[in-house]
Amino acid sequence: MKTIFAVVALAASAFAQTVNIGFPLPGQNISAGSSVNVQVEEGRQLDALTEIGIAVTLQHCQQNPCEDVSEDLGTIFFAGPFQPQNFQPPASSGEPYQNFTVNIPSSFAKGPAVFSVPHAALFGLGPEFFTQISNVTVNIV
Ligand SMILES: *[C@@H]1O[C@H](CO)[C@@H](O)[C@H](O)[C@H]1NC(C)=O
Ligand SMILES: *[C@@H]1O[C@H](CO)[C@@H](O)[C@H](O)[C@H]1NC(C)=O
Ligand SMILES: *[C@@H]1O[C@H](CO)[C@@H](O)[C@H](O)[C@H]1NC(C)=O
Repeated sequence: MKTIFAVVALAASAFAQTVNIGFPLPGQNISAGSSVNVQVEEGRQLDALTEIGIAVTLQHCQQNPCEDVSEDLGTIFFAGPFQPQNFQPPASSGEPYQNFTVNIPSSFAKGPAVFSVPHAALFGLGPEFFTQISNVTVNIV
């Protein structure tokens, strides 16, 4: 029983450390050749959290709905530190966030595409190594 409780507690606390993509919105039309802010929000923190970093990638989908691209993330637009802040006005979620401006090449394939944000952090008192990928599917036009 103890093990089950520990696993549930760990899953709950790990979930709280996830980053979320606040923008662009799912299904949003984005023109190839334009730039878009990818708004990465930090989840509510229940444990001590030390950020390691994130990446922002974009992959064209072969299918609709999109196949799992977690091992085929596509073009890397950013890889480096994650330093979310509380801006005014806040994100709609109220969470601290950081914007990453992505210039989508005019040659980028049209159709469904998925922004992925791989995230690595240390959390808890151990601390423990934590990784996760958030994503949002948009439409490149
Ligand atoms: C994207 O563009 C298509 C074609 O113009 C339109 O039908 C659709 O409603 C747009 N989607 C969104 C989320 O604005
Ligand atoms: C971050 O990007 C979103 C979406 O474009 C925008 O609404 C918000 O004002 C931006 N925040 C900052 C601080 O630039
Ligand atoms: C997006 O993330 C979810 C949850 O991790 C995953 O199930 C899904 O396959 C991902 N989608 C893509 C297109 O990679």
